[in-house]
Amino acid sequence: MCGIVGYVGDKESAPILVSGLKKLEYRGYDSAGVAVVNRNTLNVVRATGKLKNLENRVSQEVPKGTIGIGHTRWATHGRPSDENAHPHSYKGVAVVHNGIIENHLALKEELRAKGHIFSSETDTEVFAHLISDELERGVDLVEAVRLAIKQVKGTYALAVVTASDPNRIVATKDSSPMVLGLGQGQNFVASDVPALLEHTRDFVYMEEGDLAVVTAQSIDIYNRQGQKVNRPTRRIDWTPMMAEKGGHKHFMHKEIWEQPRAVADTLRGRMLLSEGDIHFEGWNLSPEKVRSLSKVTILACGTSWHSGVAGKHMIETLARIPVEVELASEFRYRDPIVDGTHLAIAISQSGETADTLAAFKEAKARGATSMAICNVIGSAMTREAEFSVLTNAGPEIGVASTKAFTTQLVALYMLAVKLGRMRGTLTVKQAQEHLTHLTEIPKMIEDVLKCENSVKRVAREFMTAQDFLFLGRGPMHPVALEGALKLKEISYIHAEGYAGGEMKHGPIALIDEKMPVVVIAPKQPHVAYEKIIGNIEEVRARGGKVIAIIDEDDEHVASLADHVVRIPPACALLAPVVATIPLQLLAYHVAEMRGNDVDQPRNLAKSVTVE
Ligand code: G6P
Repeated sequence: MCGIVGYVGDKESAPILVSGLKKLEYRGYDSAGVAVVNRNTLNVVRATGKLKNLENRVSQEVPKGTIGIGHTRWATHGRPSDENAHPHSYKGVAVVHNGIIENHLALKEELRAKGHIFSSETDTEVFAHLISDELERGVDLVEAVRLAIKQVKGTYALAVVTASDPNRIVATKDSSPMVLGLGQGQNFVASDVPALLEHTRDFVYMEEGDLAVVTAQSIDIYNRQGQKVNRPTRRIDWTPMMAEKGGHKHFMHKEIWEQPRAVADTLRGRMLLSEGDIHFEGWNLSPEKVRSLSKVTILACGTSWHSGVAGKHMIETLARIPVEVELASEFRYRDPIVDGTHLAIAISQSGETADTLAAFKEAKARGATSMAICNVIGSAMTREAEFSVLTNAGPEIGVASTKAFTTQLVALYMLAVKLGRMRGTLTVKQAQEHLTHLTEIPKMIEDVLKCENSVKRVAREFMTAQDFLFLGRGPMHPVALEGALKLKEISYIHAEGYAGGEMKHGPIALIDEKMPVVVIAPKQPHVAYEKIIGNIEEVRARGGKVIAIIDEDDEHVASLADHVVRIPPACALLAPVVATIPLQLLAYHVAEMRGNDVDQPRNLAKSVTVE
């Protein structure tokens, strides 16, 4: 949600911090700040609003010093304001924090009784007070941080600098992500890899309860028990360009156009065409285990949940295992029926979504075998999972998820083929056919992207609509859900996605001549093509405007619809990958034409690391 950056080295830290924060602004963006230490002086600069405001302030009064921490905030406790922006400081101790301290009110009360005065409404500020109290008792900084975190209940990624100990950053984490970036004569901390890609490709992912002491020359990591530990260094292949806009007006647009590459990268090295099988590195499920599975439970939120719904169609059809797709935020608060014959799959772009992570842990605790489909190697979800399938989409910066969704779909399809082969529900020949379909997908995405101009025309006509309805059947149902979500996220137009058959049970009451209805209607047997044509007729009969996503050669539906977008014909279970692209473009252009902040839509955050 929020972003953290920290630097210690021989360069001026403020510009490095601000440029790192720019890469993280997408995580949270109602205020930002930096704290820089120069000899024994702590300088804090903060500003409400976009990062530009902080940049302006920093350029007016550049805080000098070669060590510092920075933060972009997405408000949870306390409105966005200069006072509530991080870093929070008290008596020479400055902290930045992602997460939530649940017992902050009680702690504040205790501290107030001891004479502490708080200057913000945030939960985070208690850290600065607790640490300063411990320092005053004479312990060193590392011990002070350790003692402070013992007193808090909640989740945190925390970075601390102090005026009295001006050569080191102390960072610690529990349930919120934190990485350490390794440099020559300089080192970094950050909540997320893209913040540091212009400086390093070598990262250490901190584990739950870890505490790191970071100086210009060294990084020492201690586990929750205080023992010194070695954590592996990972080389991240993402280039800084991958986290830049590369000539596109917005990250979202770039990420939509990157999908042929992202999907090809997700398929690369995994398809064993001659054997009719899939190779997943590190696959550790035995054939007996796979055959004994009685159920797959998919756990996810938002767009990743939609890919789970599409995955249900794929896995049930190809591997003949019942699949339940659970909203992670609901799953964990019931008494879910899970046992050792179940496979729990967490789907997540970030690998850090708090609800998905908690539901995943719950399923594991009840005995399920655990697998993650995730875009971020080393994230909490991949560390929690017994096995992970990485979607190689590269960093996704736009808050509205695009390439993460389509790469999740192809990862799920590969998984369905693999499970199908292991369970004997697919012959080699059948699997080969599915793999051939998969190899065609990157080119199909390239082709479908050519529809951008026709989508723009549709966007122009309906950019002032107040409501949109999206309809799809079978595997196109999750596409309808995703199309509606994309539109509402960034255009702020009310939109609903429905299974076509459900239209007559409610949404039909909304249809009038002002209502655009996007019908996803490729000619596929699973999609109940005739039935979706019935939906189109029902919309027309009530004066609604039909925008149909159809096969290239479908003149019949073309003659019924007000607007059509033609897509190349993919096989039924993979058609969602192709059919989603025009809907992403529709949402993008409507939002852009309405002058909205496409990459950073109001109230949303890229990774939701709070419940
Ligand atoms: C947020 C994002 C969505 C994303 C969801 C789940 O709401 O704005 O785009 O789909 O979180 O995120 P995950 O990282 O778990 O896929």
